[in-house]
Amino acid sequence: MSELKNDVFLRALLRQPVSRTPVWIMRQAGRYLPEYREVRAQAGDFMSVCRNPELACEVTMQPLRRYELDAAILFSDILTVPDAMGLGLYFETGEGPKFERPVQTADAIRSLRVPNVEKQLGYVFDAVRTIRRELDGKVPLIGFAGSPFTVGTYMVEGGSSREFPTIKRLAKEAPEVLDHLMDVVAETTTEYLNAQIDAGAQAVQIFDTWGAALEADEFRRFSLASMQKIVEGLTRDNDGRKVPVILFTKGAGRLLRDLAQVDCDALGVDWTTSLADARGYVNDKVALQGNLDPATLRESPEVIRKGVADTLASYGDGPGHVFNLGHGITPDIDPDHLGALVDAVHELSPAYHS
Ligand code: CP3
Repeated sequence: MSELKNDVFLRALLRQPVSRTPVWIMRQAGRYLPEYREVRAQAGDFMSVCRNPELACEVTMQPLRRYELDAAILFSDILTVPDAMGLGLYFETGEGPKFERPVQTADAIRSLRVPNVEKQLGYVFDAVRTIRRELDGKVPLIGFAGSPFTVGTYMVEGGSSREFPTIKRLAKEAPEVLDHLMDVVAETTTEYLNAQIDAGAQAVQIFDTWGAALEADEFRRFSLASMQKIVEGLTRDNDGRKVPVILFTKGAGRLLRDLAQVDCDALGVDWTTSLADARGYVNDKVALQGNLDPATLRESPEVIRKGVADTLASYGDGPGHVFNLGHGITPDIDPDHLGALVDAVHELSPAYHS
């Protein structure tokens, strides 16, 4: 494998000294980019891009051609895992993800099995290998998966949900059935992430978009515990370098204290918690990633620059900060506005590193 030329992202995740704050953006490959929309239109739909390693590689590289980002992220989706478990993932235009065969009863959940990950998800590992070759050591590649609870919401509700009625009923009326769902998804996800690491992923992020919709004790039992199981089972080394693990529970707030007790390297923070408060909660035990409000990107370059300045100041001096938004970039953003964000991080962040 070619030598990594820019390791500022990996160093920051391990709280090692850096000369500036690294930056990447959740959903950096996506619909706000016209060149992404073109590839997707040619492929026919989103999953056809994911299943084709050359196309997945192409859209992964697109944002890196425009911006000086410090990491690439595999182009795929968190719902490939339940798709591999046989639920039949499909996307209806404008409606988000859906499953042909959701698992809504205790019996359906009890009959779920860990699939043959290598066989069902081989296209993802092929994409990882293709992207690593194309990156040629320019920046590290992030692999990812969803948290078992977040993935579980889509499996049980059959698609996107606002209130999560079915999975919340399980949490309250049949918690041991939900424990089983968390276990099967966690075991599958551990194999899935380890195969991404074997194929060349140099850091991994677990997206827990919906865990904080639970009561605090339920969050600990279902979402946190299942992420902890995954982290315990991960290969933490790739080519002689540590593979850092990032957990991102959106809306975690004070639960960041609990998350920092998991054996991870970094926590994602959304914009509802300041980085200064988050740093206090975790007591510098782990690095922090975030947390500019994605809505800021709709504003002028001057407002964006001020938002970057405030975010950097909120984290303050020293290593352990990875700049990102507090959640994914939205499809309506002007690509030049993301350029203003990345440039501002490059210009303003060296002052926080001695
Ligand atoms: O960050 C990246 O650039 C990597 C790619 C990535 C995608 N999805 C591509 C995608 C990642 C990391 C994800 C994670 C994901 N997927 C999450 C967790 C993070 C989050 O944003 O909360 C969730 C909940 C999903 C499930 C999912 N996939 C939804 C709800 C949707 C539809 C939402 C929408 O914006 O329409 C998807 C589809 C999806 N995944 C798209 C992309 C670029 C849009 C598909 C398209 O091209 O129309």
